[in-house]
Amino acid sequence: MSSQNDFPRRVKIVEVGPRDGLQNEKETIGADIKIALVDRLTQAGFPNIEAASFVSPKWVPQMATSAEVMAGIARKPGVIYSALVPNMKGFEPALAAKADEIVIFGSASEAFSQKNINCSIAESIERFRDVAQAAKQHGLRLRAAVSCSFGCPYQGDVSPESVADVVQRLRDLGCDEIDIADTIGVATPRKVHTVMQRLAKDFPIDRLAGHFHDTYGQAVANVYASMEVGVSIFHSSVAGLGGCPYAKGATGNVSTEDVLYLMQGLGIETGIDLDTVVDAGQFISQHLGRKAVSRAGNAIFAKRQS
Ligand code: HMG
Ligand code: MG
Repeated sequence: MSSQNDFPRRVKIVEVGPRDGLQNEKETIGADIKIALVDRLTQAGFPNIEAASFVSPKWVPQMATSAEVMAGIARKPGVIYSALVPNMKGFEPALAAKADEIVIFGSASEAFSQKNINCSIAESIERFRDVAQAAKQHGLRLRAAVSCSFGCPYQGDVSPESVADVVQRLRDLGCDEIDIADTIGVATPRKVHTVMQRLAKDFPIDRLAGHFHDTYGQAVANVYASMEVGVSIFHSSVAGLGGCPYAKGATGNVSTEDVLYLMQGLGIETGIDLDTVVDAGQFISQHLGRKAVSRAGNAIFAKRQS
């Protein structure tokens, strides 16, 4: 395990709030609000924003406005605007919407694969093969998410070997980056070390991303633990928005404000302005009619008021 001195000098933070954060909201959120949120996040300086999801609107109604959102955002050159794509039916609108990066999403758990995308892991890889080829043909970046890498709401334990098996298959499809997702937020730091170090045998660790949900309050610790073994890409959600529609009880991603506060304290560069993110978090939380689920975000906001 590396010492703190070996921590990355810079990390990439992928903001997933507009997709992972909002997909689970029951009330329909207007495309104008989603566009305003993405624009605020762009202004904050994120290098990569997950802005859309071209999945079945019957499965995830909140994401039905994805094409409108992608058409309405003010893009900053160099920023990657990503979209989830489960199959070729989703690839066409993602291409038309000018997504810079296609995100295929599989699972390390058979049970979750069935619940989330209605097919087995093996079938999902076959569907992704066409999507991956099409993305490459069009010169788009290709990323993949592996859900339930640390535990599954339906089958419980998930072995590091079964995560590695899916990572190998996604690597062979040509993925540029692979997200190791704790969908239900059950991981703790030692488990994170074990899983990330195992996966590093099959895929470059600097292209693995930590995607931690914060259900059990461990996500910031898990980000820290990931950096100890060389991971330098993290996903987070402004105001801690989120939850997965197919993982009951799972809460949002680690809040972006908390991750940025951690990085600031460690002297690790992100290129992102924390104050602008706090504003974006207040903006969306006001719209949703609730307090932001971010310790750092709420503390910074309260300090400003006093
Ligand atoms: P299916 O029912 O097996 O698919 O769903 P199908 O091919 O039989 O099609 C059924 C219907 O869906 C048809 O419409 C298709 O046209 C339509 P109908 O004839 O009934 O009117 N359809 C589509 N419509 C729009 N866009 C598409 C599309 N594909 C089919 N792309 C499918 C399979 C994968 C489509 C479905 O299960 C689905 O959409 N699932 C989405 C699940 C989802 O979005 N989950 C949340 C995101 S993943 C996540 O949050 C985890 C992550 O954050 C990491 C982590 O934390 O773990 C990434
Ligand atoms: Mg997620």
